[in-house]
Amino acid sequence: MKTLPNDFLWGGALAAHQFEGGWDADGKGPSVVDVLTAGAHGVARRITDKVEPNEFYPNHEAIDFYHRYKEDVALFAEMGLKCLRTSIGWSRIFPNGDDSEPNEAGLKFYDDLFDELLKHDIEPIITLSHFEMPLHLAREYGGFRNRAVVDHFVRFAEVCFDRYKDKVKYWMTFNEINNKMDVNNPLFLWTNSGVIVEEGENAREVMYQTGHHELIASALAVAKGKAINPDFEIGAMVSHVPIYPYSSNPDDVMLAEEMMRQRYFFPDVQVRGVYPSYALNEFEREGYTIPFLEGDEEILKNGTVDYLGFSYYMSTTVKSDVVADNSGDIVNGGLPNGVENPYIKSSDWGWAIDPVGLRYVLNRLYDRYQIPLFIVENGFGAVDEIVDGKIHDAARIDYLKAHIEQLKEAVVYDGVDLIGYTPWGIIDIVSFTTGEMKKRYGMIYVDRDNEGNGSMERMKKDSFDWYKHVIETNGEAL
Ligand code: BG6
Repeated sequence: MKTLPNDFLWGGALAAHQFEGGWDADGKGPSVVDVLTAGAHGVARRITDKVEPNEFYPNHEAIDFYHRYKEDVALFAEMGLKCLRTSIGWSRIFPNGDDSEPNEAGLKFYDDLFDELLKHDIEPIITLSHFEMPLHLAREYGGFRNRAVVDHFVRFAEVCFDRYKDKVKYWMTFNEINNKMDVNNPLFLWTNSGVIVEEGENAREVMYQTGHHELIASALAVAKGKAINPDFEIGAMVSHVPIYPYSSNPDDVMLAEEMMRQRYFFPDVQVRGVYPSYALNEFEREGYTIPFLEGDEEILKNGTVDYLGFSYYMSTTVKSDVVADNSGDIVNGGLPNGVENPYIKSSDWGWAIDPVGLRYVLNRLYDRYQIPLFIVENGFGAVDEIVDGKIHDAARIDYLKAHIEQLKEAVVYDGVDLIGYTPWGIIDIVSFTTGEMKKRYGMIYVDRDNEGNGSMERMKKDSFDWYKHVIETNGEAL
């Protein structure tokens, strides 16, 4: 029987701002997440103008990986991780974003971290921008509304590519570049792009204008990276939440098809190097002005990605003859025609649990793009309880097991080219959407609560040994 390839990259995924802490250590500047307060399920995180002395910002200290990385990397090694996906805090390297020289202490931190990982045979998989734009670029330049920020990003990318060219092979430009297609949640445009939509503006037009600059920045970065090291594998990274038709009613099917363009728009450009016709038609129909400059077509063509990384947590469903009530707890992704899927249960945070959806997504993405895929986020955010000094996180194991079964089907049966699998938040970290600690994904527990109390001590959950064995057997023993 066929199995997963021997070089399949089993790993874990994290993002600098959610676990490093040390938000102002060694010259780091504030980033767009350093002004995000704590929220909760159904309570949005606020964006403050600057770092206010009397506010609590959960990312500032996070789980203090910045000072404990050796201890944590040793635990990752004990788990047998073959790779670790993380990001480089942009404002650690360029505190303001437009500084003439990079911050050497910031660069050195990642040198040390990558050396520590490599010492344990853990390959670093690096996202350049995972919601960590320097606050100065957002406040003074208007974030990616401003073409000048493209140059600042490309400079940052170039400095990182050059510095870590012998330590990092797999890169991604922007994390979940497409999540801002949901323009109803201001968190996404702020963290992706450093942008706040003003009263009277058309949010969707702003999103596309900003998005164009990010697509250009991504393409320029890919070209620079390839020039620095032709062996680099540079990918895009998207959030992939499939949208199912509620029924076989052709109107439901067509609605789902049309809505899926929200998921496909960014990777369509990053993989194919051209804008898709449905988007060009939308710009014309709606009268949107996209800041295309002469030469941009060439830039996009010359900066296509080598692989597509994506996050998969859940699926959503739409029905053509309903208008969704998105006022309360949202289980349908906030889509205007979203409905609950009667075949699927949800987590405590309303995220639909749909393992078969992962196989479906792998097939759809591979059919569409025919380039290698990488599942760089997947996981189960849940409350963990300590009972007699142990954490029996059976629900997390069940979730991961069911998803790994489906990815195996996609690779072994369907023939999808999949580089690896890095479950999200391999160690407990601060939740992105809510800022909570209690929404835990980790296989390693961290003693810290929503208010920032706790010893920060690390402790293995049951899933730690389970995942270790999965890796040892290359996914055979689930
Ligand atoms: C993805 C992000 O959207 O989902 C991560 O890339 C995030 O940064 C993850 O943490 C899970 O979301 P949350 O809100 O549960 O932390």
